[in-house]
This record gives sequence, C-alpha cells and structure tokens, in this order.
Amino acid sequence: MKQRKGIILAGGSGTRLYPVTVGMSKQLLPLYDKPMIYYPISALMLANVREIAIITTPQDRDQFQRALGDGSQWGITFTWLEQASPDGLAQAYLLAEEFLAGAPSVMALGDNVFFGHGLSALMADADAQTRGATVFGYRVSDPERYGVVAFDAEGRASSIVEKPQEPLSDYAVTGLYFMDETASEKARQIRPSARGELEITSLLELYMLEHSLTVQRMGRGYAWFDTGTHSSLLDASNFVRTLQSRQGLQVGSPDEIAYERGWIDAQALDGRIRLFRKNDYGMYLAGLIR
Ligand code: G1P
Repeated sequence: MKQRKGIILAGGSGTRLYPVTVGMSKQLLPLYDKPMIYYPISALMLANVREIAIITTPQDRDQFQRALGDGSQWGITFTWLEQASPDGLAQAYLLAEEFLAGAPSVMALGDNVFFGHGLSALMADADAQTRGATVFGYRVSDPERYGVVAFDAEGRASSIVEKPQEPLSDYAVTGLYFMDETASEKARQIRPSARGELEITSLLELYMLEHSLTVQRMGRGYAWFDTGTHSSLLDASNFVRTLQSRQGLQVGSPDEIAYERGWIDAQALDGRIRLFRKNDYGMYLAGLIR
C-alpha cells in the first residue's frame, strides 16, 4: 500500500460564527492558545502523515500560508488547494485527486479537535486497514447537528444520515475520515443533496453498500469537539486550557510532535522557540530540549 496522505478541509464561510469570521477564516481563530487548525494538523501527524493538502477558500489561502508556511518547520509538507465554493465535504476528494495520486488518505476537518489517551493507537488501527473506509462514532447529546450513524444488532453501521431531524442513534460521525484509494472515484458518483452539497455521508454510504465501512466507536474516554458555534468554541478552548494548566503538557502542538518523532532536530525547534520566546508556548518548547 502507498503511504497514506493527509487532507485538511478548511474551506467554508464560517457564517455560524459571524461577525467573528467576517474578516477572518474560522480555522485560524484561536482555540485557547493556538490557531484552531493546529489541532487537526497534530491529529494527522499523530497518524504518521507527513504530506498534507490543505484546502482553503481562494480568499483565505494567503492567510493560511502566512500562518502555516510550507510545513518544513514541522518536517512535513503542505500542498495548497482551493475550494472555490462550499459544495460539500466530499468535494475534497475531487479537489485532492491529483495530490493523492492513487494513495489512501486521512481527512481531518479543520475545525475538529480530538483528544484522548489512545488516539494514536486508534488511528494506527484505522491506518492498517488497506481496504475500505474507517470513521469514528462519538456519542453526543445533539446528534441532529451532525452526520449520524446507526448500528445493526451486530454493531455494524446500518445507516448514515446527514443532520437528520429524527436521529436513529446518538452517534455522530466525527470529522476524521480514513479512506482507501477509491475515495475520489466514489466521490464522482455522488450527486448533490437537497441542500446542494456533495455530502460526506453519501460517500460513506457508498463504502457501506460495499460492506467496506468500519465505524469505530470513540468511547467516553475521548474528547471530541467541533467548534461550529461560539459556545462550542469556548468549551473547546476551556477544555484545552484546563488540561494544559493542570498537566503542564501541550494539547495539539505540531512542534512537539515533530520534535518527539524526530522529524525536526533541536536546531529547528530552537528556531521556533526564538519566535515564541515571549510566551508560555515558547517556554514549553524550550523545556522539551532541556
Ligand atoms: C460536517 C459533516 C458531518 C460531521 C461533522 C463533524 O458537518 O457534514 O457529517 O458529523 O462535520 O464535525 P458540518 O460541521 O460541516 O455542518
């Protein structure tokens, strides 16, 4: 199997966060002490992915490039792609087809934050699946806001519906999608939904019909936040702040992951430390070298 490549979808108009996002892309807003997109980048790095395509709107691309550079500071590479209009999550696989060049992929939504002790192992299991797709079901109190997966008696996925008015379960499908090399081809087969979007749930349905969809439950020991509203953004920020200040460990630091994995050396990390020397994040990174 070819090396899995990463996709981060950071398009969208962010209208639910207006007026904050009128002049600023949602995925660059602070999630406590880092830009929101640092968290999904960290998740992909923990999944051992070093080639990542970042999909933005044409107007926000410069801002993202300024914020993230070319990835070399973390020993990874970013390829920049544009989604001209928000035509749905599954469109990412059409836009990224050339980038993927027949490789399997893992896509993280730019506004999703994952945290949990077993996360790397959970993703390693998904990565090891050479055929089909693996997604994660997470129990939420408001499933109607998400793609919802229902299970049959054997615990297999039996339906996946986008934002159902009457959800068949409490399990939302999180914004982390492992797919084999057939994803782009499948994305070409799906048609826009009633709201005019190529839905990710339609793509997952195609895998389900082929009996090649695995839905792993992310149990109660995990935290999953999407940051679709002002209050969910604040909740996620408070979660990160609480954990970081209690443990003295960073959540969602691509700098730390890159250094710990040996993707960058101490000298490269030192360059970052000098950039951030006036704040706690820089102090924390300095502590990694000592
Ligand atoms: C999207 C997907 C949905 C998924 C969610 C996770 O919804 O369409 O299936 O559950 O992300 O964050 P959105 O947040 O774009 O409305």
